[in-house]
Amino acid sequence: MGRNWNFNKQMKTTLIRTSSGNFSIIVDKEVYIGEESTKFAKFLSDYLKNKRKKFNNGIDIGSATGIYSFVLSKYCKKVIGTEIDKKSITNAVLCAEKNNIRNVNFEIANLFPRNKEKYDIIVSNPDYILENKIDKFYGGKMLYDILNKVNEKLSNNGVAIIVCTLPIMNRKPLILNWLNKIDFKGTIKIKEMGYFVNYKHYKSQKSKGIDYFCRYFIVLEKSKIKKTTIKRKIGRKILDNIRMNIVKAASNVLNR
Ligand SMILES: C[S@@+](CC[C@H](N)C(=O)[O-])C[C@H]1O[C@@H](n2cnc3c(N)ncnc32)[C@H](O)[C@@H]1O
Repeated sequence: MGRNWNFNKQMKTTLIRTSSGNFSIIVDKEVYIGEESTKFAKFLSDYLKNKRKKFNNGIDIGSATGIYSFVLSKYCKKVIGTEIDKKSITNAVLCAEKNNIRNVNFEIANLFPRNKEKYDIIVSNPDYILENKIDKFYGGKMLYDILNKVNEKLSNNGVAIIVCTLPIMNRKPLILNWLNKIDFKGTIKIKEMGYFVNYKHYKSQKSKGIDYFCRYFIVLEKSKIKKTTIKRKIGRKILDNIRMNIVKAASNVLNR
């Protein structure tokens, strides 16, 4: 007999359709789910399906509802979802039960569990804090920490798939700067998934060199070589000029 779910009025159910199956996701009001969560779940599912490979273990860092853990569960023998937020863990356990998924565990941890385990696949949508007060990580500390542990935490030929947001600084993508500095042996592919501006703090951010923000899907495949490729549809300069003009015009209107 199923568990007596603690389903309250603050919870909504949403169906996420992917190439690896459909997942019925219950979301507590205080647990994170964004429009990128669905897009990334689909991207992850397509990537794994195309690989035609079974992985031993996977980790979903900052699992929230657990949606990426459930996609991983179709391709990995065992999956762990980690969270710093207790409510998210309860939510993810509920979703696992609803979808009858048994090879996933959720646990409270700061990024990785405290052990020496290495993973065949790491996925994450790290928290991104867009505030007026810009810290030295430009709001992306969680991403920075994950990137700096990826090489150590991936098994040989392992893969990390990350969705993240970082600024374009004085026309240069900060993400390239960070990726060039990490100790990673393998191929890194970056797909740009859109851009946006924090209009509320536009002026102060501009004064710190932030042009606008980009969202990326990043795939880091561990191997013996290091090569960074960036997939973009049109030339960087043209794209930047168009975007910066739009940003400037919109900001003038909004800050009038
Ligand atoms: C942007 S949300 C992504 C949630 C979910 N993976 C998704 O994409 O729908 C980031 C999640 O990371 C969790 N988080 C923040 N810092 C963390 C840390 N140090 N270790 C583990 N989880 C963390 C937050 O509680 C939040 O649920």
